[in-house]
Amino acid sequence: MSEAVDLDGRRVVLVTGASRGIGAETAQALATDGDHVIINYREKLKRAQAIADGIAQAGGTASVAGGDLSDEAAANRLIAKVAKEFGRLDVLVLSASGGLELSAGPDYPMRINRDAQLRLVQLALPLMPSGSRIVFVTSHQAHFHGRKPVPAEYEPIAESKRAGEDALRNLIPLLSDRGIELVVVSGDMIDGTIIVRLLERRNSDAVEARRDQGPLPTVEEFARAVADATRSNDATGHTIYVGGLDYLSMPTS
Ligand SMILES: NC(=O)c1ccc[n+]([C@@H]2O[C@H](COP(=O)([O-])OP(=O)(O)OC[C@H]3O[C@@H](n4cnc5c(N)ncnc54)[C@H](OP(=O)(O)O)[C@@H]3O)[C@@H](O)[C@H]2O)c1
Repeated sequence: MSEAVDLDGRRVVLVTGASRGIGAETAQALATDGDHVIINYREKLKRAQAIADGIAQAGGTASVAGGDLSDEAAANRLIAKVAKEFGRLDVLVLSASGGLELSAGPDYPMRINRDAQLRLVQLALPLMPSGSRIVFVTSHQAHFHGRKPVPAEYEPIAESKRAGEDALRNLIPLLSDRGIELVVVSGDMIDGTIIVRLLERRNSDAVEARRDQGPLPTVEEFARAVADATRSNDATGHTIYVGGLDYLSMPTS
């Protein structure tokens, strides 16, 4: 095990899907807070490197680590790289998600949003010391799946992300035995993200219906909540909600 990076007391944080959108913004927020951030991406190395370079220019530290999380071998390589370079992982932010891609097959949402999340956590566990934390990033439409209708385009993603959240929650006893906490951060549609822009094109009524409830949270607001969730005093299993007050009048879990 070699420690090539001088951590200088920083926490080691892996943010999945951090080459763009909410993951990228979360990585920047965590680096500003003083963490060393590992920026995971699937294929967009240049974008991931640009995020890492921006963090370095702002005085923080970051590295990049590619890997399609739906590919078991790639997930293994990602965690092996973290082990080799840092020897530990203090925080795992599960932001990468998928299923709306035109190339995605019918089984892909469950593979990326449930199976890959569970596998990555299981692979990362040996690197995570007592006191470390896992933050699962999700949407209200997924978190409240089955209790509120979702746009047809989003149904497989909502169902699979909720299945992923349930699978992770089932791990809580095992995580607690190791002193590791799980916190979930759920957001309304987030303004300015590619997914909301895509939905706006394919089903603008669905986005308008959310805007009718009030302004949508921004990427910066949501990313700040995710970054804060890595340090909050919340008990394991807690869910932090961002936006979408109308959802919160329903029973939560
Ligand atoms: N957008 C919203 O309105 C909204 C609302 C609430 C919650 N959320 C949640 O916030 C998270 C981020 O959403 P976003 O809209 O910012 O996503 P996004 O813009 O679609 O970004 C996806 C990121 O995940 C990476 N990625 C995709 N598939 C991957 C895979 N198989 N393996 C590894 N990385 C992969 C992408 O890497 P490449 O660039 O290399 O492809 C990219 O960095 C998701 O969990 C989502 O459910 C989003």
